[in-house]
Amino acid sequence: MVSVGVLASGRGSNFQAIVEHQRLGVFQGVDVSVLIYNYPEAPVKHIAEKHGIANHLVGHKNVDRVEFERQIMSILDSSEVELVCLAGWDRIVGSEFFRKYRWKVMNIHPALLPSFGWKGLNARYVHEAALEYGVKITGCTVFFVDVSVEKGPIILQHPVRVLKSELELFKNRREDAIQSLSDRVLIHEHRIYSKAIQLYADRRLRVYEAVTSGKEAQANRVVSIDLHDDWEKKWNERQRIFIESQKTAWGAKAVEAAEELI
Ligand code: GRF
Repeated sequence: MVSVGVLASGRGSNFQAIVEHQRLGVFQGVDVSVLIYNYPEAPVKHIAEKHGIANHLVGHKNVDRVEFERQIMSILDSSEVELVCLAGWDRIVGSEFFRKYRWKVMNIHPALLPSFGWKGLNARYVHEAALEYGVKITGCTVFFVDVSVEKGPIILQHPVRVLKSELELFKNRREDAIQSLSDRVLIHEHRIYSKAIQLYADRRLRVYEAVTSGKEAQANRVVSIDLHDDWEKKWNERQRIFIESQKTAWGAKAVEAAEELI
């Protein structure tokens, strides 16, 4: 059983989706054991409370980064957390954290990294930037986090086509266009994050590091996914129940719109 700890700062829809995968029995060998949040009023805490998941506030105000990180690690240790999932977490943790949880920290980003991956850009601004740029395809990315933040090795991505209607809307109803794109991407975020967690729990993710030489020497880190048998088929079958629950929550039309073919 892999114990998962989630760090979230706000609304918590990704946390909710992860919890749903557990509640609906989609996960196997995964235990979402603890939520850590950093604002007293973060709505995400109510999701944990509702589902009886241990949750702890670790405020970042008036504590230095070392102490903040120490408090987080101590909670993760007491829940014997092996995998840490950042889900709308807005604080950068330090190098000590990444040393301890090397390739055991995941994050989700609402674009196809490395595009629109600047540090500190929150989801709304990511979608706004994508619309402003006029990209035809965007999407979401689950990646392993290291000290570089958004430059960690990519685990999974899912493309989402930007609709012509969204580009039109963006000209005079900017916020509506951003909201529409954000919802359609979020539907896929909620699916691929849990898939990445299950791949981790099934020990199917390996990070390969190759150091290129010369003046521009740098480490290239690539995640290879072991999918040699029918893992994906079985996962899709198990996840179907979650997708049905998305149709109930979002409406079948919204889910269909998110699935618009590329
Ligand atoms: C998501 O779009 C995620 O990709 C980004 O922040 C947003 C968090 O949303 N990192 P939520 O709190 O999970 O609803």
